[in-house]
Amino acid sequence: MLKNKWYLICPSEELKNDILTRKIMGEDIIFFRKPDGEITALEDRCCHRNVNLSLGYIDKDRVVCGYHGWEYDKSGSCVKIPSQLPGDKIPPTAKIKSYPVKDFNKWVWIFIGDSEKSSHINPTNIPEMNEWPFTYKAYTFKADLEATAESLIDPYHIAFVHRNSIKSFMGQIKESPADFNLKILDDGVEGFYRRANVGTKAEKVYFGNEENIGTRIRFYYPNISRLEIRFKERILLILEHVMQVDDEHVEMKQITLWKNIFPKFPAFAKFFMARKSAKIVEEDIDFLSSNLEILKKRKDDLHEVSVKGDEVSLSFRKFWRKKLQETE
Ligand code: FES
Ligand SMILES: [Fe+2]
Repeated sequence: MLKNKWYLICPSEELKNDILTRKIMGEDIIFFRKPDGEITALEDRCCHRNVNLSLGYIDKDRVVCGYHGWEYDKSGSCVKIPSQLPGDKIPPTAKIKSYPVKDFNKWVWIFIGDSEKSSHINPTNIPEMNEWPFTYKAYTFKADLEATAESLIDPYHIAFVHRNSIKSFMGQIKESPADFNLKILDDGVEGFYRRANVGTKAEKVYFGNEENIGTRIRFYYPNISRLEIRFKERILLILEHVMQVDDEHVEMKQITLWKNIFPKFPAFAKFFMARKSAKIVEEDIDFLSSNLEILKKRKDDLHEVSVKGDEVSLSFRKFWRKKLQETE
């Protein structure tokens, strides 16, 4: 599993002075924002009788266990035990795990792994997250992490898997196989290619009827992909973030951002983009889940055939496996 990395949790504005729970790499975690704005992430466990802290509640800058009222501060130290007399010493072992967290580019991030390493590893910086309007949706489903990550920048699946959502909007690959101008970077994979404009009449009126739509793909190791589609001054940016939830499940967050698309009507733009992008991950889920079942069954006898057009996926896989080895 990919530890010692920063993971996206939710847009900053969604985290309030209230408990939010997430499971990441098998660890159950609670998040809340203190009244002074600082965010806190703690393991979802009270060390008194081992129950979930998420069954309790937040009191200002502390989380209160719902069972016997023990209170924990942002560092995970128990700071109040209601059954003790004032002045009684709190056992020093009454402490639970806390996680490094960050508000960065308008999102809440958590560092999973060795906490000491968090200060010299940065979250992926995608400045558009801080500047452009966006809409997002998150899904948890059964899938293999590598296969899911690989699917994010797979150029040929769009015309089929996404035939009912973004196919017309994004255009169609005309050359077979296309030239993807792939580059393997230190922290990911990058490519650029053209898709034929197959938008509907209405889409062409607004987005232009150029013959080709330039598409930029980028994978930021280990967990974010970026698909950038440009129609002259209008830009659509689709980010996908993957995270291992437990041994069998992954979570995929699909974040759609845009620039100069109905800028005078932000609410309409959001509605329009949300409708376009809502289906995208749903369309991928059945394929990725079925892939996991077959991978499990055939494990050592995998029958997989690739062709030239799989260049992007194969380069991605090679890069990913090399990176995994390096970090092991
Ligand atoms: S189990 Fe949490 S206070 Fe007792
Ligand atoms: Fe997809």
